[in-house]
Amino acid sequence: MGLRIGDIAPNFKIDTTKGEIDFHEWSKGSWVFFFSHPADYTPVCTTEMGRTSQLAGEFEKRGVKPLGLSTDTVEEHLGWINDVNETQNTNLQFPIVADKDKKVAELYDMIHPGESETAAVRSVFIIDPNHKIRLTMTYPMGVGRNFTEILRVIDALQTGDQFGVACPADWQVGGDVIIPPSVSNDAAEKKFPQGFKTVKPYLRYTSVNK
Ligand code: BEZ
Repeated sequence: MGLRIGDIAPNFKIDTTKGEIDFHEWSKGSWVFFFSHPADYTPVCTTEMGRTSQLAGEFEKRGVKPLGLSTDTVEEHLGWINDVNETQNTNLQFPIVADKDKKVAELYDMIHPGESETAAVRSVFIIDPNHKIRLTMTYPMGVGRNFTEILRVIDALQTGDQFGVACPADWQVGGDVIIPPSVSNDAAEKKFPQGFKTVKPYLRYTSVNK
């Protein structure tokens, strides 16, 4: 069975473009954007790697470390990174796991045999500083991921953790948030002195500043 939201992200030790890492050691105290791609030297993957690198400052601002993975070797990754940097106008610095034995890809259920027996699909795991999986997302090989959404969901998770709120559909930073039904009106008055708006007893909005 695959990994689920709320599970502890399993640890592993493996070679990357930045040397061997022990995943739990490497990620200690940080959020992680762990994502697989099918193969080096392929077009959509090149754009995704470039985008992740271009957004390095945005990930850092949120305390998030990106970690890529494919079933290619370190040598292949390093050669391809030159192409990524050249074509995507960036300077890629985050590590990419070289999972040539598919050890981690299988541990994280990134190989979907109906799509490919050997290459990983485009999996995303957002993992919190306690190593808990907070979001999973799987994209097919032929569709690049939306990095605006990846940053948005990290913002939403961090806002939820900070203020004990939930985020509505299409929420963006600065938008109204939702008071969970588990919080009584009395508790909400204490917790949200800025006030809240009741649309239905189960649908109450307030505002917070991340
Ligand atoms: C790509 O990155 O373009 C790609 C990789 C594997 C299958 C399909 C597309």
